[in-house]
Amino acid sequence: MIEETEFLDLFIPGPVNVSKDSREMMTYPMIAHRSNTMSELHNDIAHYLQKMLFTTNQIILSTSSSTGLMEAAMRNCVNKNSVLNVVNGAFAERWSKIGSANGKKTDILQIDWGKAVTPKQLQEKLESNTYDAVCLTHNETSTGVATPLQDLYKTVKDNNCLLLVDAVSGAGGLEARIDDWEIDVYLFGLQKCIALSPGLAVASVSDAALEMAKKTPNRGLYFDFLDLKKYHDRGMQPATPVIPIYYQLQYKLHQIVDEEGIENRWARHQQLADYTRDWVKSKKLSLFAEEAVASNTVTCVNSKGIDVAKLKADLMKKGYFFATGYGKFKETNFRIAHMGDRTLDEVKAYLTTIEELTS
Ligand SMILES: Cc1ncc(COP(=O)(O)O)c(C=O)c1O
Repeated sequence: MIEETEFLDLFIPGPVNVSKDSREMMTYPMIAHRSNTMSELHNDIAHYLQKMLFTTNQIILSTSSSTGLMEAAMRNCVNKNSVLNVVNGAFAERWSKIGSANGKKTDILQIDWGKAVTPKQLQEKLESNTYDAVCLTHNETSTGVATPLQDLYKTVKDNNCLLLVDAVSGAGGLEARIDDWEIDVYLFGLQKCIALSPGLAVASVSDAALEMAKKTPNRGLYFDFLDLKKYHDRGMQPATPVIPIYYQLQYKLHQIVDEEGIENRWARHQQLADYTRDWVKSKKLSLFAEEAVASNTVTCVNSKGIDVAKLKADLMKKGYFFATGYGKFKETNFRIAHMGDRTLDEVKAYLTTIEELTS
C-alpha cells in the first residue's frame, strides 16, 4: 500500500487531485443497480448535469472513459456522409482515428497546433463536401488551446451538420452553454475540471443526434445511444454502472451547482489561467498557444532552455507531479494544469517552486 504522505500533488491535466470529502463518498454501501434508490440517484445526477450544462438535452452516463463516448458519438451520429474532424492537436486527432476505426468516411481540416479553427476556415471546408457531423475539441489538452465554440456553432448548423464536442478537459472549467450553442453531443469525463475519480463519462445528446442514431446502422451494443436512452428513462444504465462514482458525482454536482456556482467555477479557472499566463510572460517564457485562444484549464509553455525531464524529477522530490509536453512536444513544452478544485494559492506556490528550481 502507498503511504498517505507518498501521494504527489497532481499538477497534470488529469487525473487531478480529488478532495478527501469526495473520496469518502465512494465508501458508501453498495446498492442494487435495478432499484428505486439507483433510479433516484441517476435522475438527480442527470438533472444537475442539465443545470450545469444549461441544457434540456438527454443526459447519457457511461461506465467507460471518455474515449468510449467519443466512439459512441461517432457510431451514432455519422451515417452515410462524411464526418469532418478539425485537427489542431493530439486529442483532436483521436476523433479522426475513431472515425476511421469505425469505418466512417473521415475528412480532416488540419489547423496549426496551438491555434483554433476560425469560422471562415470551417465554412470553406464545409462547402467542399456534404458532412453529417463536425467534431471539435473544446479544450485541446496537448497544446492548451480552447476552441471558441460560441463563434463556430452557427457555421456548423448553417451547413446542416451535427456538432460533436470532446470537452474532456474543458467541461466544468470553461464556459459552455449547450442549448444556446446548439451542441448535439458534448462529452467529458470527471477526472479533470470536475475533480473526481476516472471511470464514468458523461454526454448531453440532442434530439437531432438521437434522430440521427435512429437512421444509423451498426451503432454497436454497449454504446448505442437509443438503448442507453431507453434505460436512462428508467434511471438506469443497460449494464452494471460504476456505482461508487455515482455517489461522488451526485455530491460534487450539488457543490458545483448549489454552492460554488458553475459561472463562479468558470471565473475561478479564468483567474488561475490569467495568473499563470502572466507568470509565464514575466519569466520571459512563452505560451505555445496563440494567446487569444489560450485555455483557462491548462497552460502549455515553450520550455526554451529548461531541461523538462530534470524539472520533472526535481519537482517530484518536492511532492509535485509535473506535466511535460504531450507526445512530440515532450521535451520542447511543459504544461501547467490549473483545473478542478485548484486555488490561486496552490498555483502560486507551485509556480514559485518551479521558479526556484529553474533559476
Ligand atoms: C481532450 C481530451 N480528449 C479525450 C481524452 C481521452 O480521455 P480518456 O482517457 O478518459 O478516454 C483526453 C484525455 O486526457 C483529453 O484530454
